[in-house]
Amino acid sequence: MKFFIDTADISEIESILPTGMVDGVTTNPSLIAKQGKDMKEIIKTICSLVNGPVSAEVTATEYNKMIEEGEYLASIAKNVAVKVPLTEDGLRACRSLREKNIMVNVTLCFSGAQALLAAKAGATFISPFVGRLDDINENGMKLISEIFQIYNNYENLNTQILVASVRNISHVIESAKIGAHVCTLPPKIIKELYKHDLTDKGLKMFLEDWKKTGQSILP
Ligand code: E4P
Repeated sequence: MKFFIDTADISEIESILPTGMVDGVTTNPSLIAKQGKDMKEIIKTICSLVNGPVSAEVTATEYNKMIEEGEYLASIAKNVAVKVPLTEDGLRACRSLREKNIMVNVTLCFSGAQALLAAKAGATFISPFVGRLDDINENGMKLISEIFQIYNNYENLNTQILVASVRNISHVIESAKIGAHVCTLPPKIIKELYKHDLTDKGLKMFLEDWKKTGQSILP
């Protein structure tokens, strides 16, 4: 499973890159707004740091304007994936942008029906928001299983499932068990994935015992 980082914060991306865990980046208008900087500059910088897909979202809601914005965003760098919302105009824009060989991430997906439409529109990625479904007492992971099953039934549906709105480690592990292609993770969750109390305790014990030997590995 690929890991994308869900942030528009360049310093956060730079600090996680050396781990080799970053296969791409997702941004959205809210994440860009938090940075208080020019969106195009942010996307350009992220694309120069990361080789994988970098999602940049259109803010138009009408087809023609979405295409204009999508083409502009795609011209920033080869690895831009244009993000469009799961609306009728959004899926029409998805089809047109894909015909121009531009990667498209269809966002704000909350049902199997929507995911099926996005795949039929040729989306590169579909972004179901699991956390926001959990927030309203629905089961986000159930949607991931449903989309996985739907897509697996048809060879010609090549859309990758990009699990979004991830809030905890269990969302990541369940996604991997199902076989989702990508999880986009807030930096905080990536750091949490490394953690286990027994690792910390075990390491502490090993180091204490090692100290007692008075040895050092290097001459
Ligand atoms: C995905 O592309 C979105 O940017 C993101 O995962 C939304 O997460 P949130 O529901 O925590 O805002």
